[in-house]
Order: sequence, then C-alpha cells, then structure tokens
Amino acid sequence: MVKICCVGAGYVGGPTMAVIALKCPAVEVVVVDISVARITAWNSEQLPIYEPGLDDVVKQCRGRNLFFSTDIEKHIARADIIFVSVNTPTKTRGLGAGKAADLTYWENAARMIADVAKADKIVVEKSTVPVKTAEAIEKILIHNSRGVNFQILSNPEFLAEGTAIKDLFNPDRVLIGGRETPEGKKAVQALKQVYANWVPEDRIITTNLWSAELSKLAANAFLAQRISSVNAISALCEATGADVAEVAYAIGKDTRIGPRFLSASVGFGGSCFQKDILNLVYICECHGLPEVANYWKDVIKINDYQKSRFVNRVVSSMFNTVSEKKIAVLGFAFKKDTGDTRETPAIDVCKGLLGDKAKVCIYDPQVTEEQIQRDLALNKFDWDHPVHLQPMSATEVKPVAVTRDAYEATKGAHGVCILTEWDEFKKLDYVRIYESMQKPAFMFDGRNVVDPQKMREIGFIVYSIGKPLDSWLVDRPAVV
Ligand code: NAI
Repeated sequence: MVKICCVGAGYVGGPTMAVIALKCPAVEVVVVDISVARITAWNSEQLPIYEPGLDDVVKQCRGRNLFFSTDIEKHIARADIIFVSVNTPTKTRGLGAGKAADLTYWENAARMIADVAKADKIVVEKSTVPVKTAEAIEKILIHNSRGVNFQILSNPEFLAEGTAIKDLFNPDRVLIGGRETPEGKKAVQALKQVYANWVPEDRIITTNLWSAELSKLAANAFLAQRISSVNAISALCEATGADVAEVAYAIGKDTRIGPRFLSASVGFGGSCFQKDILNLVYICECHGLPEVANYWKDVIKINDYQKSRFVNRVVSSMFNTVSEKKIAVLGFAFKKDTGDTRETPAIDVCKGLLGDKAKVCIYDPQVTEEQIQRDLALNKFDWDHPVHLQPMSATEVKPVAVTRDAYEATKGAHGVCILTEWDEFKKLDYVRIYESMQKPAFMFDGRNVVDPQKMREIGFIVYSIGKPLDSWLVDRPAVV
C-alpha cells in the first residue's frame, strides 16, 4: 500500500488529502500538524475549516485510509510520498520584509524530514513557494540525509476556497514539476499515478521544477490582475454613469477574455493573492527586473485603492463623518462559503471606519467573534505567523461589536456595508432592515449583492460598486 504523509493540516492539506484518500482507497493518507488544536478538530465532528462538501468526504474515509495525527516524525518516517503544505507567509522582518516569502515553516519541515527519513522519499511541494525553492529544499535534505535519496517535486495547488472539494474532484489541471533525470521522471510518474485514479491523463501536466513553481505564482498574479482590472474600470463606471456589470458582461463575451472572474467588488482578499504577488515582485526585483516588478505591484495598489475608495465613499456620503454612528457590516469572510478571513478586505474597511470613530457592528454567518476581534487587532502580515496568534485576553478592548444575526447588526444603524457575497444576504428582509435603521438610511454594497433599484424603492440611499450613482452621492464625491 502506498503511504502518503502530508505535513500541514490547513485549508490546503486537509481537503486535498481527504480527496486523495477518497479517490485512492488503496493509498493510506496521514495528515500531520504541529497544531494540536487543529488535529483534534480534524478528528472531531466540528472540522477546523468550513468548506462545502468537506464533512462528507472526511466522514467517508476518516479511520479507513485517512488519518490526522500530531505524531509527525512517525508518519514522515513511514511515508513513501511526503506532501509539504505548511504556511509560507510574507516575511515581517529582515531582508525582504513585507514582500519575500518566509520559508521558516518549510525549512523546519524539510529538516525534520531529513532527520527522520530512513528510506528513500518523494517530497512534494504543495505550499506555494518562490521559484527555485526546490533547489534550497534539496540542499537541506541532501546535506542532512544519511544515505537516503530524496526526489523533490513541485505540485502546486490550484483549488479555490469555497469550492475546494468541487475543484479537487474536477480540477482544470494538475501540475507536477520534477527534475529531468531518470530518478526525477520516475518520481513524477509515481505522483501522476496517484492523481490518475480520478483525473483524466490529459489534465495532468508535467513540467520542469521551475516552471511548476513559477506557474502557481503567475496564475495567482493573473487572477488578481483580472480583479484589479475590473475594479479599476468600476471607478471609471461610477464617474461616467456606465454600469460595471454591463461592461463586464460585454467584454466577457469575447472568447479571448471569457466571462469568469470579472465581478467588481470592494477588493480581493484571501491568504494567497497579495502574498504571492508580493513574492513575485520580490523575485523580479532580485533578478534585476524592476519594470516587471512594478507592473505586478500595481495590481496590489489598485486593490488597496479600491478598499480605501469604498471607505471614503461611506464617510463622504454620510456628511463627511461616521463618528459615533453605528455602521453594520454584513460579511467578514474574504468570500462566500468559507470562514476564512485572511487578508479579507473587510479588515481594511472596518479599520478605515474605526479610524473615523464609527461604531462597527459585524455579522458573518461563518466567522466567529474571536476571529473577527483578533483580525482587527493584528498588524498586517502577522496573521499567517502562528506565534502571533495568542487568544485575546478577557480584558483586551474589543474594537467592534459582533452579532449572530443580520437584523440585530443593522438595527439602529445609519449605514449598512455588504462586504461578503453570502447568498443569505440576497434574501434578507430589507424593508424590515430599513425600518429599523436611522434615517437617511445608507446601503453600501461592496459585492453587488442587492438590486440597487429595489433598495432605492424601499428608501435607502444606495452605493453599489461600479454602478450609476444616486444624485446624493454625485453631489458628495469621495475624496480618493
Ligand atoms: P494554513 O495556515 O491553513 O495551514 C498550514 C498548516 O501548516 C498550519 O496548520 C500549521 O500549523 C502547519 N505547520 C506549519 N509548520 C509546520 C511544521 N513544521 N510541521 C507540521 N505542521 C506545520 O495554510 P493553507 O491555507 O493550507 O496554505 C498552505 C500553503 O498552500 C501556502 O503556501 C499557501 O500559499 C498555499 N495555498 C493555499 C491555498 C488556499 O486557498 N488557502 C490555495 C493554494 C495554495
């Protein structure tokens, strides 16, 4: 029986390994992590991450050929193939701070593998890493091994949170990069055989190591660039009376452009886009390519601009101040169908509103109060470094109020900001919400979830990203 061990039981390691276990009953899969809390949760009824369809997959294979454990050394020693899916955050200090990837967690994992391995292993980069990381990992493994052979493969993950199980069941492609030596090719084939259990062969792409590593960074940069492009157009739509949804539909009909990933919003978030672009920028700078670095840097600049534009629009519409006004925030996760809040635009928007002394009250169907309070208390980039993730003490001042109900959040509010496109926000009783609010009642839709015309008929003053503006807003342009 082939034995797989995955180091890192997070948003990628957990779902990916659960699907491998489901689709490959003849493979034993053990997911290990240094976090006891995470492993305990994976072994419980309440999984540590929310992802549609995940519970079902885990229930089918846990205890059969899928296991979660904190005994990292034991399972690394037993495995034939070791996936490493640990976090690769942005460095917060030292050389490359604010841009370069912090590979501390990866290096620790590699050193542990070298320490405990007694037989040959295939080590698979599942984490997103800077191009050429495999070379560094190879050196660590080879220089610390005792006669054991390691083959390093790059197998970046392209799943999207919120649709992870769907994406893993039916991936657009699986990418495997390896050394172009006979041993490297053999390792690529071994991993290919695992995926071939359910992925059609023509969707399994094999490349050299560096192409695979760079493809993941490039894919995320392209995806983020598409969002920044449509968001840049949304600002121009507001200035001219065009409607960004109509423009996106019209341009998306061009088969060279395509319709997906063209929804304007308050900005992209998630643990990957910003981190991976910063990483790409840093690599370009290191290779003496400042023009290329600046091109990608602007994708992040537009994203930051979009978030501050939204905050400025809220404040300027409400007579240039939100001080002491209750603002209801609907949605805190970075997208619907996930409880993940890493780099969610809601953090910057809430911080912007708090900076103007608003009383912010938040409701999200999946994010806990503790998570929200912690996110708003952390410094940029600290969220991905477990050392900073201490539970908040009871005496710490909580920056915002959090409710378990959208109606409670909006009651008595001056304005509502929709920051995540949860389906349930489409179905709320907005007449009830309007009646419970202060007047004039403002609606700021950062995800184009509600129909602005219907909201206006109810009585709201409405701002929807990239849509023609109410005369109220035209008269009060946001200072950007
Ligand atoms: P995560 O933070 O949810 O999970 C990483 C896990 O690794 C944590 O539970 C941590 O405790 C564990 N860990 C860290 N060092 C360890 C060690 N030495 N030994 C054992 N466990 C260790 O991160 P996530 O979201 O799963 O991302 C992992 C990697 O995958 C990152 O490089 C990310 O960029 C990449 N990625 C993430 C995607 C996403 O949608 N979240 C999609 C595609 C790639």
